Amino acid sequence: MSAIIVNNLVKTFELSKGRKRGKMSPNEPHKTMNIIRAVDDISFEVRKGEIFGFLGPNGAGKTTTIRMMTGVLRPTKGKIKILGLDAWKNQIVVKQVTGNVPEMANVYFSFSGWENLMFIGEIYGISKKERVIKAESLLKKFDLYEKRTLKTKKYSKGMKQRLLLCMALMTNPQILFLDEPTAGLDVQSSKIIKDLIREYNERGVTVFLTTHDMDVANELCDRIAIINHGKIISLDTPENLKKLTQDYQAIDLQFVDGMNKQEIKNLRNIREVQETQDGVHVIVEDIHESICELVDYIKTQNVKIKQLSTHQPKLEEAFLKIIEKGGKTD
Ligand SMILES: Nc1ncnc2c1ncn2[C@@H]1O[C@H](COP(=O)(O)OP(=O)(O)OP(=O)(O)O)[C@@H](O)[C@H]1O
Ligand SMILES: [Mg+2]
Repeated sequence: MSAIIVNNLVKTFELSKGRKRGKMSPNEPHKTMNIIRAVDDISFEVRKGEIFGFLGPNGAGKTTTIRMMTGVLRPTKGKIKILGLDAWKNQIVVKQVTGNVPEMANVYFSFSGWENLMFIGEIYGISKKERVIKAESLLKKFDLYEKRTLKTKKYSKGMKQRLLLCMALMTNPQILFLDEPTAGLDVQSSKIIKDLIREYNERGVTVFLTTHDMDVANELCDRIAIINHGKIISLDTPENLKKLTQDYQAIDLQFVDGMNKQEIKNLRNIREVQETQDGVHVIVEDIHESICELVDYIKTQNVKIKQLSTHQPKLEEAFLKIIEKGGKTD
C-alpha cells in the first residue's frame, strides 16, 4: 500500500498587485507577472516504509508541497492521499497518523523541553500517564533527558531540532514529514538526527524529507524526487540518479612491480586503459564487477597492488546536472 499519493498537485500564489496579470516573466517561465505557480502539477507516490527525499534548489516548491501535504496550505488543484485518506477531507485523522517538523518550526521558548512535550501530548489527547512514559523515552533517546527542565530558549540549535523531532514523534506517527531536518547543524548533531531517522524508519515509519544536504539524501533516501520551478524533473533511487548522469566510472591502480598493462584491456568489464607512471587509469562499465575482475587478474600475474582508488559519480554532481538540464538526461 502507498503511504502517500499525490495527484496533479498545483499551488499558485498571488504576487504583488498593480502589475498586468498573465504576462510571462522571461527568465522564470513558471511565473506570470503577478501569479506564481509554486507547485506546478506534480504527481508522485511514496511507498509505505520508505525514506523519500524531496530535493530542489531554493524556491523550487518543496516547502509549499509539504505544507499542502500536512494540511497547512490548501492546494489550488489536485489530490493528496495519506494512508488512503484524502488529506483535506480527513484532516484530524491525518494529523494523528503523521508527525511534522516544518521548515521554520520552533519550540515554545518559555517552556522547558519536558513542558513542550507535555503540551503537545495534551493537544493530541494523549493520557497523562502515556505522555510521561513517551516523553521520558523520547528525551532519553534524543539525548535531551538531562536538559529536560531547562527552558528551551537556552537550548542550542541542535537541541531544539532534536526536541522538535521528539514533539513530532509523541503521537507514534506512521509517516514523518521533515523539512530540512539537519539544516544548520554541525556534523555530530546532523549524524544523531540521521541515525534516528534511520532507526525510526527501520521500525516502520515512512519518512518524507527535504534537504539540501546531499550526504543526508544519499545515505538515507530509498528514492529521491528532484523538483525545480514547481515541477518534478526526476524521480529515482540515488544509485540510478547517479548512474543516469555519470560520464564514466574509473579505477586507478598503482603497482609495486612492473605489470603488462596492455593485457588489462582484454578483461571483460574494461572499457579503456590509460597508462600512468606506476599503474593504470581504467575506465569501466561497472565498478564493483571490475574491481573483482582486475584484482583476480593481477593476482594471477603475481604483481602487488600499491594503491587502488575509484572515481564514482556523486549525488551532488548528478543533482546539479539534472537541474541544469531540466530533467533531460542523455
Ligand atoms: N505564502 C507565499 N506567498 C507568495 N509566494 C510564496 C509563498 N510561499 C512560497 N512562495 C513562493 O513559492 C516558491 C516556492 O517556495 P518554497 O518555500 O516552496 O520553496 P523551497 O523549495 O522550500 O525553497 P527553500 O529550499 O529555499 O526552502 C518561491 O518562489 C516562493 O517565493
Ligand atoms: Mg523550503
